[in-house]
Amino acid sequence: RVTLHPAGSDAAIPLEARPGRSLMQAAVDAGVEGIAADCGGSLTCATCHVRVREPFASRLPAPSADELAMLEFTAVPRGPGSRLSCQLVLDDSLDGLVADLPERQY
Ligand code: FES
Repeated sequence: RVTLHPAGSDAAIPLEARPGRSLMQAAVDAGVEGIAADCGGSLTCATCHVRVREPFASRLPAPSADELAMLEFTAVPRGPGSRLSCQLVLDDSLDGLVADLPERQY
């Protein structure tokens, strides 16, 4: 289970995520508006930006060089915990993950 928080809101969006799926896929399947994911996960759009809260941000595998490069193109500049959610494959160690959605993806 993971939880997303829309920007500027106290709302919490709980997601049931199957292990092996990406956070982006889980959010899109659930119709979360704050994730656009235009490229469908091929790491070419930077519209699946999230900010992962600690302690989970530190537990994630480090971003690949390609993800780091694309993080330069997010609509809201990257900050602490910023990741592209299509690159975050969920497993049991990430159960309980909490992330914030940026104000916009464009
Ligand atoms: Fe396009 Fe993640 S869905 S970069």
